[in-house]
Amino acid sequence: MAVADSHAARPQKTDHLPEAVERRVSDALAALSLEQKVRLLTGADFWSTHPEPAIGLRRMVVSDGPVGVRGERWDERDPSVCLPSSTALAATWDEALLERVGAALASEARRKGVDVVLGPTVNLHRSPLGGRHFECFSEDPLLTGRLGAAYVRGLQAHGVGATPKHYVANDSETERFTVDVRVDERTLRELYLAPFERMITGAGAWLVMASYNAVNGVTLTESALLASPLEDEWGFDGVVVSDWTATRSTEAAARAALDLAMPGPGGPWGAALVAAVRRGAVPEKAIDDKVRRLLRLAARVGALEGVAPAAPAPAPLSSAEAGALAREAAAAGMVLVRNQGDALPLDAASLRRIAVIGPSAAAGRIQGGGSASVHPHYAVSPLDGLRAALGRRAEVLHAVGTRIHEGLVPVAGDQVVDPVSGQRGVHVRLLDAKGGVLHEEHRDVGRLTFIGDQRANEAAAIEVTARFRAAEAGLYRIGVAGVGVYRLTAGGQVLFDEVVLPDKDDMAAALLAPPQRAAELSLAAGQEIDLALTHTVPVGTLAVAFSLGAEVPALSDEEELARAVDLARSADVAIVVVGTTEAIESEGFDRSTLGLPGRQDELIRAVAAVSPRTIVLVNSGGPVTMPWRDEVAAVLLTWFPGQEFGAAAADVLLGAVEPGGRLPTTWPARAEDVPVLSTKPENGKLVYAEGLHIGYRAWARAGVTPAYPFGHGLGYTRWEILDVEAPSVAAGAALEARVRVRNVGTRRGRHVVQLYLSRPDSEVERPALWLAGFASVEAEPDQTVDVAVTVEPRAFAHWAAGRWQVEPGVYTLHAGHSAAVLTRQTAVHLHE
Ligand code: BGC
Repeated sequence: MAVADSHAARPQKTDHLPEAVERRVSDALAALSLEQKVRLLTGADFWSTHPEPAIGLRRMVVSDGPVGVRGERWDERDPSVCLPSSTALAATWDEALLERVGAALASEARRKGVDVVLGPTVNLHRSPLGGRHFECFSEDPLLTGRLGAAYVRGLQAHGVGATPKHYVANDSETERFTVDVRVDERTLRELYLAPFERMITGAGAWLVMASYNAVNGVTLTESALLASPLEDEWGFDGVVVSDWTATRSTEAAARAALDLAMPGPGGPWGAALVAAVRRGAVPEKAIDDKVRRLLRLAARVGALEGVAPAAPAPAPLSSAEAGALAREAAAAGMVLVRNQGDALPLDAASLRRIAVIGPSAAAGRIQGGGSASVHPHYAVSPLDGLRAALGRRAEVLHAVGTRIHEGLVPVAGDQVVDPVSGQRGVHVRLLDAKGGVLHEEHRDVGRLTFIGDQRANEAAAIEVTARFRAAEAGLYRIGVAGVGVYRLTAGGQVLFDEVVLPDKDDMAAALLAPPQRAAELSLAAGQEIDLALTHTVPVGTLAVAFSLGAEVPALSDEEELARAVDLARSADVAIVVVGTTEAIESEGFDRSTLGLPGRQDELIRAVAAVSPRTIVLVNSGGPVTMPWRDEVAAVLLTWFPGQEFGAAAADVLLGAVEPGGRLPTTWPARAEDVPVLSTKPENGKLVYAEGLHIGYRAWARAGVTPAYPFGHGLGYTRWEILDVEAPSVAAGAALEARVRVRNVGTRRGRHVVQLYLSRPDSEVERPALWLAGFASVEAEPDQTVDVAVTVEPRAFAHWAAGRWQVEPGVYTLHAGHSAAVLTRQTAVHLHE
C-alpha cells in the first residue's frame, strides 16, 4: 500500500521578497503602458534587457558561464576566470567548494557589469555521447541537484542571479531545436525535473532557462511545465528566460509561463504581442505577471532604483584568488581511477628525467566548446605545471607523440603582425557596401566573434589582414574556419573565393565549431607573407564568427610516435596527456564515438610497452574508452580542469594534493556496453524508453561491469567502511544514518561516503539502486570516524498517480565506496 508523502509534495521556495519590495514592484508595474510592458519582455540585444527610465529600471546584463563569466564581448579583450567544467566540479562531491565557486563567479560577474549568470547546466548525463556532457554535472539527480544548488546559493548570496538550465530534458544535442523528448511523468519527476526542483526549493534560483526541445509534443517555451510544477508546486517567483531564439510563437509562448524572450531586439513578441493582447488573444494579466517577475529580478540584482539589491556587490576577485581557487578545485575534481603499485604520487626527489608526452601535454584543453566557453586570462598546461613544480631538479622533456588533427588553429602570437599597427596580431576592418571603413581595430588573435554587435550587423564585409611569418620551412595550411562567403589572398594571389557551407544543422555549431577551408603554401624558414581574408556579411545576420587560421608543418605521425617512444624509454617516468578536442565536446551536436580521437590509444600502448611507469592523464569532459587501461601504471582523469590545469596536475602527480575526485558518471569499458547510448531521434522523437534506468542504475540492472563505476575514485589513502546504522523512520521524515569509516592507508585523506537504497521486493517498479545520500569525511591514518549522512524523505518517495507517494516497509541501505562497491548494509523500516 502507498501513502502520500506530504512533506515532499509542496515544498516552499526559500527567499521571497519583503513586502515593501513587492509594493515597489507593483507600483512600477502599474505605471507602465501595455507597450512599455511588452517591450521589457524581449531582450534589448543579445545579452541585456531593456531599461525603463520612467520607473527607475536600468538594463540588466546576462552572461554565459558556467565556468566563468564571459560578459558581453566574446573575445580575448574581455577575459574571465576559467574554473573547472561541471563534470570536474561534480567529481568533487563537495557542496562547500561549489558554493565558493558560485561566490567567485559572482565577483567576476560584478566586475564585468553582469547581473545574471546563465548557469548552472543541470541536465543529466543520460548518454555519454551528449555533446554538452562536460557542461552538466552528473548522471544522478541527487548529486546534480545538491551541487547545482550550492553553485546557485554561492552566486545569489552575492546578489548575482543564477539560471539553472535547460528546463527540461535537454540532455543531448542532436536536433536540439526540434527534438520531441518522449518521457513518462514518473521519469520526468524523479530524474529530469528533480535537479530543477532543488534549484528552486533548496536554493531559490531567481531564473530558469526554458530549453529548445519539446517534451511530449510541446516545445518548452510554450509548455505547461513552466507553470506546473515550476511555479504552482515549487513556488518559483522568478523569471523564465527562453534559450536563445527558442521563443517560437507570439500567443502560445505569451500564454505560457515564459517571461523573457532572448535575444532581442527582434523576435515573435514586441508589436505582435501588443496586438494579441488588444485582440484579447493574450490576457493582459499574463503580461503583468511576466513584468512583475522581471521587476522582482531587477529588485534582487539592484537594477530597480530605490531598492537595495539582495546582497552588496562582492569585491573583485584578485588574480591570485582566482588562480588559487581554480587550482584547488581542479585538483579536488581529478579522479584517480587506477594506481597500480602506488605508482602515484611520484617521488620528486628520485626523478631525474620526466617525459611529458601527448597532444594535450603542452596545450591542455581547459574547457569545452560552445556557449559555455570563456576567454581565460591564461592557461597552465601540464608541461608548464610540471616544469614549474620541478624547477631545475629534473629534466622535463616533451614530445607530442601524435596530433589530434584539429586542422586550422587561429593565428596568434609571433606568427602574425598587424600590418597597420606593427603589433603582434591581426588588423580588422568593417567595411560598408562601397568598401568604406565603418570601423577598424587591432586584435591579438585571428579568431573573431561578433555576436549581437551592431557594428558587425551593419557591415557588408569584414576584412582581416596580417603579415604571416613562417617559423620553420615546410608546408603550411592557411585558411578560414567559418560559414559563408570568404576570399583569402596571400601575397596578393587569390587562394580561394567561395562559399563555405555548414556541416552541421545547428546555428550555434556553425558559429562555434565551424567547417574549415584551407589552401596549402610552401614557405621557407623566416619567410613572411601578407594575408587578407574577407568575409561577406549576410544582410540581417545576428552573429558572425570566423577565424583566420593556420596549420603549421609537422613531422609525420610515424616520426612523432617514434620520438615519443624514444623519449619515454629514456625517462624515469612517462606522463601521457591525451584527450578530446573542441570539435568533439561542444554544443549543437553530440559525440559520434567514445573513443579518443586520432591515434592516441596507439600512442599510449607504444609508450606503455617501453615504460613500466606510464601515467595517463585523460583530459576530456566526458567518458572516453580506455582499452589500454590495464597496461599502464596509473590513470588520472582530469576532465576540463580550467586555467590552472597544469599546476593542479603537478600538485596531484607529485603528491602535494590528493586527487579528491569521485566519478559523477559511469565510465564504460566499451561503447556497446552502455545501457543508454543513442541520442539520435527517430522521426523527430527521442524516446526515453529506459525510464528510470539511466547511469549506474542501468548498469546495475543490466549486470554489466563498466571500466569504472559511478562514485569510484582512489585518492592517496585507503578506506574501510566498518559499519552503517540507521533507525527506523516515519514516512515524510528525514533519516539520519551513521557510517563508521576508517582510514586504513598511510596518509591523511578525504573520502566520499555514499549511501544507496534498494527495495528488492517492491510493489512498484524501481531502479536496482539509487543514491540516497553522501557525505565527505577526512581522517588521519588509522583514525576511525563516525559520519552522519542525511537521507531526505524524497529518497523514499516515488511519483505515482500525480503525486509523491511512499511505500512503507523495509528498504536496504547500502554504504559503499561507489555504486559497485557497497561493503556494508542495513535494513531500514519505513512506517506510516
Ligand atoms: C545555449 C545556452 C546559452 C545561450 C546563450 C544557447 O545556444 O543553449 O546554454 O546560455 O545559447 O549563449
